[in-house]
Amino acid sequence: MSTIAPLTVELADRAYPIHFSDSLNALKHDVAALRAAGRSIRVFSDAKVLAAQPDVLAQAGFEDTEILSLPSGEKTKSVEFFSQALSFLAGQSANRDCALFAFGGGVIGDLSGYVAASYLRGIDFYQIPTTLLSMVDSSVGGKTGINLPEGKNLVGAFWQPKAVYIETRLLETLPSREFAAGMAEVIKYGMLYDLDFFKELEQVNTLTASSPELAAIVRRCCAIKAEIVADDEKETAASGGRALLNLGHTFAHAIENVAGYGQYLHGEAVGIGLNLATQLSIELGQIDASDITRAKNLIERCGLPTVLKTPLPISGLMAAMQRDKKNRGGKLRFVSMQALGQAVTTDGVDAALVEALWKTVGAA
Ligand SMILES: NC(=O)c1ccc[n+]([C@@H]2O[C@H](COP(=O)([O-])OP(=O)(O)OC[C@H]3O[C@@H](n4cnc5c(N)ncnc54)[C@H](O)[C@@H]3O)[C@@H](O)[C@H]2O)c1
Repeated sequence: MSTIAPLTVELADRAYPIHFSDSLNALKHDVAALRAAGRSIRVFSDAKVLAAQPDVLAQAGFEDTEILSLPSGEKTKSVEFFSQALSFLAGQSANRDCALFAFGGGVIGDLSGYVAASYLRGIDFYQIPTTLLSMVDSSVGGKTGINLPEGKNLVGAFWQPKAVYIETRLLETLPSREFAAGMAEVIKYGMLYDLDFFKELEQVNTLTASSPELAAIVRRCCAIKAEIVADDEKETAASGGRALLNLGHTFAHAIENVAGYGQYLHGEAVGIGLNLATQLSIELGQIDASDITRAKNLIERCGLPTVLKTPLPISGLMAAMQRDKKNRGGKLRFVSMQALGQAVTTDGVDAALVEALWKTVGAA
């Protein structure tokens, strides 16, 4: 397999590398260097990941007593496990020189990152993502956090990692439904930023964990995210910027919220959301009507839904969209496409139009 060069996320004094080839050796090297410098090391993971990939941490030089195994699943991104994780560090008298690694998907990455941002007002943080979603999305960009009973990701901090180690071979044990969910974010990058990338995805037959082209595809996604994040790290741009990464997500969050978390994997809701965002762009006169077929074909070919599994109430979906924390000045804010591969933020979309769009995916 050809070597894939590391990528640097350009954030001035906080720039950091993302490794793609031979990453577990890079990890082993960095762990040894931290130890040689007298630093202490801890790693948070989840029980399923540790069972599926039992050798990775030992081979990289971590010791059993340094590992905190948390339950798998979204519930771990909570105040309860945040507190447990902090106590693990404090109980072992970890101090400022401690380097915290996250070995897992977006749940472990988000929780560990927030612990790293908070413990002793901030310790060094490293990511070893193990899901497709965390490789292409959550491990890049520095958003960390946990959920509250009142809503997802309501508490958190921007805390950039020191390095990210991506080894796509780890995806061989990932359930196929989770792999497909990660593909929604991959497709999203093509639609929002890079028409050539979208075309390449159209040409690939079926992408799996062992596809030779996967690592290059993951790198392309990270490069797009890194470029957008470098220009608008804290999502403060008045228009465009980091918000563009939410293409399809205003719809997706409403679906997850109304269906109840767990009914749809996030990426499955994003599949439907990307279909709706494409339709919205057509209705706004921004893209060609034929693009809907291209978008739907690609989403469905990756094993993702483009319509709801069972009808959801339009009133509930609209109310959930009103509560979206990305709205500005009480107005619905969407990300649409000016052209396939070129997203824009669009404010003040007519509610009647959005209701009509919901009907096309089976809402009632
Ligand atoms: N910080 C960000 O910018 C950002 C971006 C997108 C999503 N997120 C967050 O990411 C989270 C979702 O992350 P996710 O989709 O990675 O889910 P996840 O972390 O829950 O992992 C999905 C499932 O796969 C299992 N798993 C992980 N890696 C495995 C492997 N290699 N082999 C076998 N099983 C494995 C996990 O135990 C879990 O059951 C959400 O909380 C979401 O809010 C954050």
